[in-house]
Amino acid sequence: MSAEGMGAARGVRHGPGGALEAFKQQYMDSYAPLLAEVERRLLLVTERPGRTLGESCTLTLEAGGKRMRPLLVFLSMARGQEPDERLYAAAVAMELVHMATLVHDDVLDAAELRRGEPTVVARYGEGVSISSGDYMFSSAFEALAGSGSPAAVSMLAATSLDLSRGELLQMRGSGDLELTLNVYEERCRLKTASLFSTACRLGALLSGCGEDVVQAMGEYGAGIGMAFQISDDILDFSGDSDRIGKRFGADLRDGTVTLPLILALEMDEELSGMLNGELSEESLLHVCRRVAASGALAQAQERAFAYVAQAVEALERVGEQIETAPLELVAEATVDRRG
Ligand code: IPE
Ligand code: IPE
Ligand code: MG
Ligand code: MG
Repeated sequence: MSAEGMGAARGVRHGPGGALEAFKQQYMDSYAPLLAEVERRLLLVTERPGRTLGESCTLTLEAGGKRMRPLLVFLSMARGQEPDERLYAAAVAMELVHMATLVHDDVLDAAELRRGEPTVVARYGEGVSISSGDYMFSSAFEALAGSGSPAAVSMLAATSLDLSRGELLQMRGSGDLELTLNVYEERCRLKTASLFSTACRLGALLSGCGEDVVQAMGEYGAGIGMAFQISDDILDFSGDSDRIGKRFGADLRDGTVTLPLILALEMDEELSGMLNGELSEESLLHVCRRVAASGALAQAQERAFAYVAQAVEALERVGEQIETAPLELVAEATVDRRG
């Protein structure tokens, strides 16, 4: 990647608010009405079952969230295209699958906080969480099947399989201090990058882009998805709970080994001895500080930058068919996250 491109990936090209602020200022007016329509449609889906299921899904929706995946569907549309029913269906399906995985993930991770609110599992227990996730998964397929595009439904099916394999890989690696970088990255690809990639491919496919462009957008999405997950894993060590809406140190607490820890374990020989058995709040903070002091967070960040660079490079192949400037800003924002 060129020096200028690397600078872009590091967010030095933009003002104090970074790439995210620049994106919001330049493009949010155009995309906010589209996302508002997605929100209206999502609410119809979440409220539909009524009673406890309707309540738990609607609370998950209304707790907030960045709506990255629906936004990516719209950003990946062919230049000048207005979203039609099929594109709205894709955007709705992406957020529903995402919410379903979050609700299930919080059962697996025994998480307490999500989007700044108690998780479904903390509020209603495992049974309601499993049913809520299943309901949202199924509704995503229902929404996308309405698009009449078998290719789109196949993409969603493949991504759903990736998501479940990713979560299984995560469970299998729980507490494994010898987890390799390769296995970690495969897990990120399955549990996060695949859905980002599908959101981008659906936007391009359903707005009439050719196969090469759909493929390039898939690579862009996968690249930013990897960067996004690595940043999320860094935030688990360095972020504060209010800002990220999740409990800080959650990965360490539940034994999820992520990139910062893998790198820190290589550099700090005493660290593994500190991770035996259940961690008290004090030792958790101590481990987080040691991971930061080892330089592992900065190294992990470098890895995320490299994925952003790959994503931006893939955009060079979309030619004039899609407007790439907002996509570049979103790519940069994934490594400059505060929540
Ligand atoms: C959380 O995704 C799960 C990961 C892939 C790390 P987001 O950070 O996009 O969650 P919301 O939708 O904004 O809550
Ligand atoms: C993302 O991984 C999980 C999903 C794809 C649902 P995490 O376990 O890191 O997500 P958070 O940190 O709980 O949001
Ligand atoms: Mg989790
Ligand atoms: Mg996380």
